[in-house]
Amino acid sequence: MNKIIEINVSESYKVYLGYENYKEILNYIDDKKKIFIITDENLKKLHLKEFTKILDDERINYSNFILKPGEDSKSLKSVERIMNSMAEQKMSRSDIVIAFGGGVVGDIAGFCASIYQRGIEYIQIPTTLLAAVDSSVGGKTAVNLESGKNLVGSFKQPLSVICNLDTFKTLSKEEFNNGVYECIKYGIIFDRDYFDIFLQEDFDVNSNRLMEVVESAITFKSKVVIEDEFDFGKRRLLNLGHTFGHGIEQASAYKIKHGFAVGLGMEIVSKISYSLNGISKEELDEILSVMKKYRNIKLPTISPQDILSYALVDKKIYGGVINMIIPKSIGECEIIEVELDKLKELYYLGTNNS
Ligand code: GLY
Repeated sequence: MNKIIEINVSESYKVYLGYENYKEILNYIDDKKKIFIITDENLKKLHLKEFTKILDDERINYSNFILKPGEDSKSLKSVERIMNSMAEQKMSRSDIVIAFGGGVVGDIAGFCASIYQRGIEYIQIPTTLLAAVDSSVGGKTAVNLESGKNLVGSFKQPLSVICNLDTFKTLSKEEFNNGVYECIKYGIIFDRDYFDIFLQEDFDVNSNRLMEVVESAITFKSKVVIEDEFDFGKRRLLNLGHTFGHGIEQASAYKIKHGFAVGLGMEIVSKISYSLNGISKEELDEILSVMKKYRNIKLPTISPQDILSYALVDKKIYGGVINMIIPKSIGECEIIEVELDKLKELYYLGTNNS
């Protein structure tokens, strides 16, 4: 059965979760609105037609902007191209942008919507597990700079989110597991039982718990986003594994995908926590074992210096200290402030022991 999750932030909206649910778009658009769909080449081949058929049937006027898949597209250059195309299509403030894709598409489409003519509405249609459980909900939009990931962005909540779980069936195992790491993250931050799903099962796209797993992830996220929409407090917990994770992702030139990099980052902070008498040996071993279980790829070797230099231009630095998220136990994390000159020491503490 399809589900609706309400996200009650400053501009509240619904997340539609289920199957064959693209028609929910018709709650938000009509033939008087122009639609500007931002997607990528893979989705154009695989899923776009199924979505645009609904628009065709209702005689809705739309245009597509197709990005190259991958993190390189999440740039200010792409933003300029997209916005020129929106202007050519005569998009106005009463029209709607659709982000049809994974995290890259969602982040850049949201950013363009937030600044085009000082802001127009957008709808997220996440097509990957990673985007469904994280970036499509919560209103963070972003593009990368050469000096760092997501360094330019804005907060702009979508008008709604429509997640059709069928799209996950065409993800590679690597791409699916990329999203599994973000789900495991919610388990370590919020809920031991949720973590156990990934420890006890070989969770994959055919699991009969897929819908429940995605629904819980969105619910975990929505609770903190409702409490701390603009990321000044509790929402920072969602950055578990991200300080070193973003560093790893960037130092590998994005060859290591976000979820896997965050997984490695979660390993490092769990080992740091154990060394500082936080998490128990037993729970550390459970985290290490679940991390290993979903790592179905060979990771390239990357230099610790590069990881650390990227970690030092992280958005989580405030007033010269970095906010780092450390597990106290599985299901409970805390935010600690780390002086920048201690970061290297902690990194080695988290990579040299087990
Ligand atoms: N991805 C973390 C957040 O949305 O706050």
